[in-house]
This record gives sequence, structure tokens and C-alpha cells, in this order.
Amino acid sequence: MRIPIIAGNWKMNKTVTEGLNLVKELKGVEENTDVEVVVCPPFLHLSEVKNELKNTDIKIGAQNMHWEKNGAYTGEVSPEMLSEMGIDYVIIGHSERREYFNETDETVNKKIKSAIDYGIKPIVCVGETLDEREAKKANEKVKKQILKGFEGIDKEDMKNIVIAYEPIWAIGTGKTASSKEANEMISFIRNIVKEKYGLDISEELRIQYGGSVKPHNVIEIMNETDIDGALVGGASLKAKDFKEIINF
Ligand code: PGA
Repeated sequence: MRIPIIAGNWKMNKTVTEGLNLVKELKGVEENTDVEVVVCPPFLHLSEVKNELKNTDIKIGAQNMHWEKNGAYTGEVSPEMLSEMGIDYVIIGHSERREYFNETDETVNKKIKSAIDYGIKPIVCVGETLDEREAKKANEKVKKQILKGFEGIDKEDMKNIVIAYEPIWAIGTGKTASSKEANEMISFIRNIVKEKYGLDISEELRIQYGGSVKPHNVIEIMNETDIDGALVGGASLKAKDFKEIINF
């Protein structure tokens, strides 16, 4: 049985005060659900949000990290810093990081390995552009992202990894992949993982869908057989919407 995981990616939104108000409203939502709930605020919020959520089961994720332990990397945050703070998850390779900050499958691979070394669970994002989908290259693109991103990652480590399939054309656009399209790609991903790591690992692996998940479409998405949760951007910024999604 895979436990569904719903994570809110706040991106570069909310001041610390606004973020604290949001998590105060979310508290308790995890008590009446079997869903694992994660919030991923900006780095600056992590310490206070962690403190605010200390007696709850809501998990905390960062939105990115460097792969090195420390060093002369101005403006970066290290896995050691996140791990000392007790951060549970880290989003790696979000399409916005790949597009605007030149992240590649190689840097994604280094970050996954480093997060695992520091006991932080990676949420690894993959997904195709609209052009790639229309040119029928979506599967090829996602397969490459998985194979390169996971190069040298052990079977054992896969147990702590979550994959998020996010078609780029569905992020922040109000367009969602149809639940069937999303499920097809997610079962394709599970199959790649099966070929690489075997049936057991592929059956255990949780794969989220992300891209314009809202209260009105979450049920249809979560009803699909291979979709184990959602990575939610815009709708995670409003407590009411995020709670409705968690309680789908
Ligand atoms: P969205 O973002 O829900 O606003 O489309 C999803 C994401 O980028 O993770």
C-alpha cells in the first residue's frame, strides 16, 4: 500500500509572517486523513515554520539545495544546513529550476545523491514541454530525465524517493493533463523504475502528479491507479484550497 503524499510548493511566495499564518490554518488537517502532508516554503521560512509545526505530523520540505556540504557558493543552501534543521523533504529538479537556473539531469543527479547522504528525502521532478508532447517525444524526454537523474542511485535509496511528474505545460497555466494522460505517463515511469530496480521497488515508489491541481480536479486525479499524490503550487497558497485537496 502506497501512502498518498500531497505537497505544497509555495515557490517564491509569502513573507515569513504570511507563511506562518498559512501553516497555523493548516494545523490539524493531517489528523483525519491517511495522506502524508508536506509544505515546502522558501528557505527563509523553514526554521519558523518547523517550529510552528513541531507538534503536528505535517512534514516540511525545501524547494532546492546545493549538492555540496559547504563552500564558496554564494547564495546557496547546503544539505548539511537542511539536515541539521530536521527538514524532511527537498524538491529537486523542478522545471522552473531547470528552465531559469540551468539545472540539468547531471546536477539533479548530484543533488539526489547528496540529499540521500544527509537523510533528506528527495521529491524529484520530471516532465515534458508542450512542444515535446506534441512531437510525441514526451516519453523519451521523461525516460532520459529518470535514467540520467537516477544514475548510480541504489535500490535501497529508492525507498526514500518520491517522483513528481509535472508536464511543464500544465504548471501554473490552469491546464491539467487529463487524469488518463497523467496516469499513462506515471505508469510509464513506474515501468522504467521496474526495469532498473525490479518490481518491488517500482510498486513501493510513490509518484505524484503536479500541474494545476485544484480542489475541483483532485478527486479525478487521485482516483487513477498509479497516481500517489500531488505536488501543488498555486492552490497550496490558500489554506482552504490546500485543505480541500488534502481531504479529497
Ligand atoms: P501549479 O504548480 O499547481 O501552480 O500548477 C505546480 C508545481 O509547479 O509544482
